[in-house]
Amino acid sequence: MCGIVGYVGFRRAADLIVEGLRRLEYRGYDSAGLAVLDDEGRIEVRKAAGRLARLESLVRASVPDAAIGIGHTRWATHGAPTDGNAHPHLGGCAATGHAVSESLAIVHNGVIENFRGLKAGLEAEGYVFRSETDSEVVAHLIDNCLKRALATGPRVTDEPADSPWVVAVREALAQLRGTYGLLVLFAGRPDLLVAARLGSPLVVGVGDGEHFIASDSSPLAGHADRIVYLADHEVAVITSDTLRIIHRDAGRVEPSVLPLELSAADVGLGGHPHFMLKEIHEQPETIRAAMRGRLSRDDATAVFGGLNLTPAQLQHVNRIVLTGCGTSWHAALVGEYLIEEFARLPVEVEYASELRYRNPPIDEGTLLFAITQSGETADTLAALRELKRKGHPTLAICNVVGSTIANEADGGIYLHAGPEIGVASTKAFTSQCVVLALLALYFGRLRHMSYEQGRAFIAALERLPDLVAEALEADPLIRSVAEKYRSASTFLYLGRQYNFPVALEGALKLKEISYIHAEGYPAAEMKHGPIALVDPLTPSVFLIPQGAVYDKVILNLEEIKARKGPVIAIASPGDERVRELADDVIEVPDAPDFLQPIVEAIPLQLLAYHIAVLRGCDVDKPRNLAKSVTVE
Ligand code: G6P
Repeated sequence: MCGIVGYVGFRRAADLIVEGLRRLEYRGYDSAGLAVLDDEGRIEVRKAAGRLARLESLVRASVPDAAIGIGHTRWATHGAPTDGNAHPHLGGCAATGHAVSESLAIVHNGVIENFRGLKAGLEAEGYVFRSETDSEVVAHLIDNCLKRALATGPRVTDEPADSPWVVAVREALAQLRGTYGLLVLFAGRPDLLVAARLGSPLVVGVGDGEHFIASDSSPLAGHADRIVYLADHEVAVITSDTLRIIHRDAGRVEPSVLPLELSAADVGLGGHPHFMLKEIHEQPETIRAAMRGRLSRDDATAVFGGLNLTPAQLQHVNRIVLTGCGTSWHAALVGEYLIEEFARLPVEVEYASELRYRNPPIDEGTLLFAITQSGETADTLAALRELKRKGHPTLAICNVVGSTIANEADGGIYLHAGPEIGVASTKAFTSQCVVLALLALYFGRLRHMSYEQGRAFIAALERLPDLVAEALEADPLIRSVAEKYRSASTFLYLGRQYNFPVALEGALKLKEISYIHAEGYPAAEMKHGPIALVDPLTPSVFLIPQGAVYDKVILNLEEIKARKGPVIAIASPGDERVRELADDVIEVPDAPDFLQPIVEAIPLQLLAYHIAVLRGCDVDKPRNLAKSVTVE
């Protein structure tokens, strides 16, 4: 959802901000804007609803060459996506009979819950609101505090916390209820940006004589080699050369400056037409990365560095709850099959949006895993907080380093899949499944799984990247299958056992990016309703590799064929029985049942991708969707 970029240094800020906003486009947005200072220190704003290209043309037409500025991509919550509601918002009040003098501009991510009350108070003091957003209240509130801070006489001190601009921001923050990632640019202060975070991420990129501020690290790639993750309740006072951090309760804190391991290539297309296709093809490598350093052949188990639980706590676990949203929830379902089969631990999978309000009885030995690519999904975060509040250990399976969920969980496991920019999740899904397989191995070996079984499990995992690479070779064939079915208006996706969650995921991929209605079902359940949809125009995608339930799925496939439904089968190499029955067959290499979800996901991702491209859809930025959903 919304994105923030800011710059203070020596280069032309507007260009860097537009480039940074482009890298944040993947989060989803409906308007964009920026503010810089002119030669006289006055604030100049350009903003426009719609795609970033509109803002770019405004910037090309005219914008000062300032070396300081802030920018934003907005995903509307309060107020429609219009030019006026786009950020930045200006703070300033007209004294009676005078024009408004704007003292500052802000960009804001998050939601201000008490904005109505604050707005009424500010209006009573003469502030005129120009937008319907909750964010504008923050701009006027800081202006109001600044007027008071300046009126009491600026204290001349080296301590930035004492400067009226910082005092004003901190006083305003104290009045806000809700969440914010906030960046403030002040008129007449070409050397100062103030950033603040509560519940909405902000990072600072540290360069030589320049600083970058952003809502995630992607705008920093290629520009800064060091990064600081702001924590909740921190305010950063940023000039081109200095970075001071003040914590609401702890006072001044030393920034923890980490190396930024993200290159410009990581956030570029690398010759692919879309990020989604690039990310699909990265999977042999991202799967390897998810396993790297985590397999111990000697002990025939998995090794994790960041669970932060004592052996006694781990031994005590008697139930696991897996939660997440969207694709991450599908990975959780795969995890349920894996952990129950190999660790013999009862697993419950719950949508995070339901778990947070359901108040289920949970006993002491329950361990929660929040599964999330972004680490920012509001519902997943709320579910994690709820279980944490009740005293349960909470762990995250997460891709984005330094994200809110990664920070708030007691411990966790990173996917190390690199930035996932296509809105429809692909490589994160397979990495999540790999990490869940590692957990099944780990808990299995803590309990009853034998050394030999552990070794065999590891050997199978180690073959996985090659199997995925082989599955990707079907890309040209899948494109031709996509040509054939691109005009269908409904698809069914059917699979059993380990392949049932993949059927759900395949259907979700198609819905998300091609806008075709699709449903995933356990193959046998199809006869309890969805079979009524079957006709010669409704294709069914069958996941039917050789394995424990192969014969059963063949029966289900025959039931569809008997009703003249076209069948696309994802099957094992050389399966003549399937070839006789199905209209189209996409072969995937053989894998043990428990790893099939990862291999089978590949053709489904490619099928959705090609159908969407053939239908002219914007696959990386599908309509109405956001990459990380930071509102409830
Ligand atoms: C959004 C995205 C989905 C994603 C879901 C959960 O809806 O569009 O692709 O699966 O959020 O995101 P997370 O970052 O928590 O995995």
